[in-house]
Amino acid sequence: MDIRLDGRVALVTGASSGLGERFARVLGESGARVALAARRVDRLEALATALRASGVMAHAVAMDVTRLESIEAGIEEAQAALGPIDVLVNNSGVSAAKRLGEYTEADYDHVMDTNLKGAFFVAQAVGRRMVARARAAAGADDSARGGRIINIASTAGLRPLAQLAVYSMSKAAIVQMTRSMAHEWGRFGINTNAICPGYIETDINREHWETPAGQKLLQILPRRRVGQPADLDALLVMLAANSGQFVNGAIIAADDGLSAG
Ligand SMILES: NC(=O)c1ccc[n+]([C@@H]2O[C@H](COP(=O)([O-])OP(=O)(O)OC[C@H]3O[C@@H](n4cnc5c(N)ncnc54)[C@H](OP(=O)(O)O)[C@@H]3O)[C@@H](O)[C@H]2O)c1
Repeated sequence: MDIRLDGRVALVTGASSGLGERFARVLGESGARVALAARRVDRLEALATALRASGVMAHAVAMDVTRLESIEAGIEEAQAALGPIDVLVNNSGVSAAKRLGEYTEADYDHVMDTNLKGAFFVAQAVGRRMVARARAAAGADDSARGGRIINIASTAGLRPLAQLAVYSMSKAAIVQMTRSMAHEWGRFGINTNAICPGYIETDINREHWETPAGQKLLQILPRRRVGQPADLDALLVMLAANSGQFVNGAIIAADDGLSAG
């Protein structure tokens, strides 16, 4: 089965690096028009230019997911440039590695404001628009339905990871948020699912793999290896497609078996 996303519009938050950058490339290569959102607009512009050079319609928008007015402005700009959003990849996220007693209020707010509050209000803003489209299209053909929300949670949302308590809490909440959205918005043809990646090499953790603690951690991973962003390609495209309508509210571990042990 060759899954194509031609005619679909996708918004990827956190597209300025790591997984988000890869997600945007893969969706674009699969035929979608892609809106790239994050704070480092120079990096988004460089990616948009590279995507356009390979024939993908791409548009960069500034978005700080911790600010609701920035979310609204970014979505409006993305829609004006590319059309109504069919697929949201809710990916922006940050981490703070500390022992429980060391967290400051600022650390806590930084992680929660980005990973949880930000992800909720991005999904709410896109979801509201998808619901409005579905209502307007009721009785018409199904093309305006079929919204897809893909929340990027983490293995940490399934089991707490050492020295990542607040991060793990934020991602566990994303798991429940995913189920709530699947339940409430499913009748509008909107499928909400979560990907829980294991350790994938990106800017969020790259330096860690060189440290003694990182090397030790590698030894407990099922195949003693860190994943690469491309390891999520097939799963992402499957969840973004307007087929697979019965896959809704799924929390999918993509961690090479880490959370299974
Ligand atoms: N890598 C892993 O092993 C792994 C495992 C499980 C889950 N994840 C999750 O995957 C997602 C992507 O992480 P990554 O590994 O690709 O890390 P990354 O390379 O550090 O990317 C994080 C992205 O989030 C964006 N971001 C951070 N704060 C933001 C804000 N306030 N507003 C908008 N965008 C913001 C960053 O863009 P700007 O700084 O330009 O705004 C960046 O594009 C995160 O949710 C992370 O928790 C990663």
